[in-house]
Amino acid sequence: MFPLARPRRLRASDGARRLVRETHLTPADFVQPLFVLPGKNERRPVRSMPGVFQISVDVAVKEARELRRLGVPAVILFGVPATKDATGSDAADPDGIVQRAARAIKNACPDLVVVTDLCLCEYTDHGHCGVLKGTGRAAVIDNDATLDLLGRIARVQADAGADWVAPSGMMDGAVGVIRRALDDAGRADTAILAYAAKYASAFYGPFRDAAQSAPSFGDRRSHQMDAANAREALREVALDIKEGADMVMVKPALSYLDIVRRVRDRFDVPVAAYNVSGEYAMVQAAAQKGWIDGDRVTEEILLSIKRAGADVILTYHAREMARRLA
Ligand code: PBG
Repeated sequence: MFPLARPRRLRASDGARRLVRETHLTPADFVQPLFVLPGKNERRPVRSMPGVFQISVDVAVKEARELRRLGVPAVILFGVPATKDATGSDAADPDGIVQRAARAIKNACPDLVVVTDLCLCEYTDHGHCGVLKGTGRAAVIDNDATLDLLGRIARVQADAGADWVAPSGMMDGAVGVIRRALDDAGRADTAILAYAAKYASAFYGPFRDAAQSAPSFGDRRSHQMDAANAREALREVALDIKEGADMVMVKPALSYLDIVRRVRDRFDVPVAAYNVSGEYAMVQAAAQKGWIDGDRVTEEILLSIKRAGADVILTYHAREMARRLA
């Protein structure tokens, strides 16, 4: 007879549990998303994301300082421009809202990594991730015309100080075109964090509130991935790496932890996971009602994403979690 196995021995005390803990969260795991809008001293609450605000550049600079102090190494910037049009001009304007924010943040905190979301949906009046061809509701995204624009926006973002650009529109060929545009502009040092496996997800609902970027007709299923597919995600990741992605992202995180794990096991570039707006909103809502312990659930969620293999976690919980880890 073997002695009865007693794994509980190692769970008997807090000290023992800490010693055998396999995964540790640190503030250095996180990227804090910021929604930036024009104006001064603006801090507008996002209705569906308690604790998240649309902020003006001056407030974003203060946020950046605070995050840096807490040990959070990076922010990702999303723009809420004053005006939107068919081609999302603000995105490619050197004086556009995200460019102004990137410049100001790099000025104040040169060692903070500034990531810029690189997509058109926040800037187009129709809310789609690219320029359209065709008319009315029959219009579709023109992939290759969009690529030219993405290359231009990448340069403008890099010129404004972005350390990493993060193409999030799931356009075919985007990473390659952006890499070439950056290199041609003398921006070989700007890295690309590719939203490589981005699913067409209902979990983005609150983000579209925050960025005012819901499509005015149709949806994003012709470019974002089908939730049912895993092998396809591996093909998407392989393509983006081949085109020059320095890091790849899986998004959302929680319903796709299997994808995070498979990407981690198959590829050797750093893997990011985006703990998206709907995932955040669910926690905040249930916690506000007193139905769950928000702090503990948050920690468990972030641990699960790291345990699944993510090296980098984009999360609206970043500031709060970093504060707790301090
Ligand atoms: C697109 C973009 C989206 C998110 C990040 N970048 C929205 C979308 O695809 O509709 C979603 C992030 C979140 O839900 O937190 N620019």
